Amino acid sequence: KSTHLTDYTSPAWRVPKVSLCFELEPEETRVTAMLCVEHVDGHPQRDLVLFGEELVLESLSQNGEPLDSQYYELTKDGLVIRDLDESCELEIVTRIHPKRNTALSGLYISEGHFCTQCEAEGFRRITYFPDRPDVLSVYDVRIEADEKRYPVLLSNGNPVAQGELDNGRHFAHWHDPFPKPSYLFALVAGDLACHSDQFVTASGRTVDLRLYVQAHNLDQCSFAMQALKKSMRWDEQAFGREYDLDIFMIVAVDDFNMGAMENKGLNIFNSKCVLASPQTATDDDFIMIESIIAHEYFHNWSGNRVTCRDWFQLSLKEGLTVFRDQEFTADQTLPGVKRIQDVQRLRNLQFPEDAGPMSHPVRPQSYLEINNFYTMTIYEKGAEVVRMLQTLLGASLFRRGLDLYFDRHDGQAVTTDDFVKALEDASGRDLSLFRRWYDQAGTPVLEIQEGFDDSASEYHLSLRQHCPSTPGQDVKMPLHIPVSVALFAASGEKIPCGADAAIETTLELTEQQQTFVFKDVHEPPVLSLLRGFSAPVIVRDQHRPETLAFLMQHEDDAFSRWEAGQRFALNILLAWVADCQNDRQLLLDPRFSQAFAALLKDAQSHPALVAETMTLPSESYLGDQLSTIDVEAVHMARCTLMQQLGQQCFSTMVEIYEKTQGIAGFDALALGQRRLHNLCLTYLCASGESEAQDRALQHYHHAPDMTHTMGALRALIAQPGEVIHQCLGDFEQRWKDQPLVLDKWFSLQAMAPWPDSLERVQDLMRHPGFSLRNPNRVRAVLGSFTMANPLGFHAIDGQAYAFMAELILELDAINPQIAARLAGCFSRWRRFDAVRQNGQQQALQRILAQPSVSRDLYEIASRSLG
Ligand code: ARG
Ligand code: ZN
Repeated sequence: KSTHLTDYTSPAWRVPKVSLCFELEPEETRVTAMLCVEHVDGHPQRDLVLFGEELVLESLSQNGEPLDSQYYELTKDGLVIRDLDESCELEIVTRIHPKRNTALSGLYISEGHFCTQCEAEGFRRITYFPDRPDVLSVYDVRIEADEKRYPVLLSNGNPVAQGELDNGRHFAHWHDPFPKPSYLFALVAGDLACHSDQFVTASGRTVDLRLYVQAHNLDQCSFAMQALKKSMRWDEQAFGREYDLDIFMIVAVDDFNMGAMENKGLNIFNSKCVLASPQTATDDDFIMIESIIAHEYFHNWSGNRVTCRDWFQLSLKEGLTVFRDQEFTADQTLPGVKRIQDVQRLRNLQFPEDAGPMSHPVRPQSYLEINNFYTMTIYEKGAEVVRMLQTLLGASLFRRGLDLYFDRHDGQAVTTDDFVKALEDASGRDLSLFRRWYDQAGTPVLEIQEGFDDSASEYHLSLRQHCPSTPGQDVKMPLHIPVSVALFAASGEKIPCGADAAIETTLELTEQQQTFVFKDVHEPPVLSLLRGFSAPVIVRDQHRPETLAFLMQHEDDAFSRWEAGQRFALNILLAWVADCQNDRQLLLDPRFSQAFAALLKDAQSHPALVAETMTLPSESYLGDQLSTIDVEAVHMARCTLMQQLGQQCFSTMVEIYEKTQGIAGFDALALGQRRLHNLCLTYLCASGESEAQDRALQHYHHAPDMTHTMGALRALIAQPGEVIHQCLGDFEQRWKDQPLVLDKWFSLQAMAPWPDSLERVQDLMRHPGFSLRNPNRVRAVLGSFTMANPLGFHAIDGQAYAFMAELILELDAINPQIAARLAGCFSRWRRFDAVRQNGQQQALQRILAQPSVSRDLYEIASRSLG
């Protein structure tokens, strides 16, 4: 049943025009679709194949004449029509049931409002259609609904008409002049309040901006609106991309499977990714919202004007758009901090995916359910691939290449090959070898060897690459890897190391092994490799403490400086894991605490960078470095390092904590200071000093905003006790009527590394604010528990595994996409000890034994089991 890239065939029929009429009722909505269809000259396939799911077919006619049943056949996944005229008008009337749609794909109801989600294959749950991204149509949409219950009626494009109908009903008519694939269709109807604004484009056109929310959320819109205007301006300035319709709308809905969706002119957002005020959202929420607003807006060009030929090309739009939103955020804040955070995300989430049973290339070869391929690899590694292209071409040729890409393919559905070809044509560079990044899965490993020839004043650097095999891909070819390097003299100065005495250079590794020679190097240099994280690879190096301490002090590339500190901490933590396992004492290398203390006192460093450096590698990343994950030892090692650092640097941290009190504003400096403020509190609490708990309690009760409130809770959550329970109780009372804020409370408790985690999770699920039907609630409680509470989820008794297996099945009957996501919690089972392996295998087998298991869940569970 799986779909293969190599089976792609171009569509046999075009659908240049679509008219849709919706007669909206929650229980039964009638959809009348008029398709202008044209057979593609000479295409061998004559039948018109339309997809359809959960539809009731009411009538079917060609050019106004009902079609006799001998000319069509209803199949299990759609409708096949024979002997149509080469070009005709097809009218299809279907009935659907939005209220029963708990999968949240197609047309469904959220908090009484109609909304849609069509990517990737939801449109076929609305009407019969060639629901594939390479069929582009101009849409006309008429919506009819009860005026009282649904005063606002929205679809893509520009509004054309609206008016009254009989029986208290009304209608609206929308027209989208830009041909688009069905996955970009959207409809919203409801009683929504509107926050409006305007934007004047570079060429002087005025665009109406509208943000639709439930009336009680109207006070949480202004940030998102500002973010939208910034994004529109930035895309003009950075990429020369201007908006193209008269109106741009965003709608916030509470029930949504993912973050947001870039439907043409009508973006639909998970309310979590739009709504924010300082009282309800943390600084991190604000930053996340700004980047998602930007991401969806940027899709207007990278995704909508130029779209994907088929779903194997998903990274064409997602990788490129993530790259664009990363660049946007870097421009708004501190580029180095943004880069560090993106690398952390990649390492914590994409590297394990690439090393596990779900590993797949940026352009996958096959899938069972495309919804399972909205992955870290498609998005984040895809963005790294685009970034490497920028590094290899240089900013200006890269920009020229993108201009050519948008220009050449405007209005088309294309492939990642077309994208690379445009960059090749614009730059004159040969990227044939580079294309392997799209087809080869797995994270490459770089090994290095250094040599210094005193008499010749030459420094030699040998780089060797290899990539471990991944499921279905045993043999790996060398990749084209940009490796940015700099050489440092013992003085801390950089040594010229490239052509024209460049102070840093990007080496291009294209073979399995290559040696690069640097001339006129008069002392053995200190190497800084992979500056800016110039490629998504793992570097195997000796990482000697002296070198790391040196780079922590002298490196001027923000990422590499941070990396040296992380590597140092990682070495200590890994050694401590072994010490824990052997009941040895955990003794801290004084060189690390000295470097750490020096960093704290370094007035030159930006507080946001100091905060990043103070943040130790995550437990999951630590576990990934071990041959067998030992959740207890990892937790113990990491907590102990925080404790010791907290104790040794107590007074410095108190000083910083006090200096960063009461910081307002939203510039990079203020954001960094608040992070540092909260982080110091976490370390102070980790030290175990009772004075710190009092501070945290004060911090909680005097918090001016949610950033501070959560700072206190996060600092306190490490230790169960009176203080944290008091704060949690207070928080619940205060926020029980605001689901998005209560999610923070759910999530924090589900992640708490306390004993009895499973019972706590079960209690949370009985809370009146919880519901299995809402993806945000599920993610807050069960997503947090399985992904961010290793001690609880992987408790040795295996009870959490069994519990989650049953729950995932229960959820599968409601919403397969969410069930499949959650089931990813078992995909790393091979990395654990025998007892935990067994428990997780059993959970996967239990899931697969369910006869009614969805295709989504089946694919994840079966691939995980291997
Ligand atoms: N295109 C959307 C975005 O990245 C995400 C759609 C995800 N769809 C899905 N079925 N998981 O912005
Ligand atoms: Zn996207």
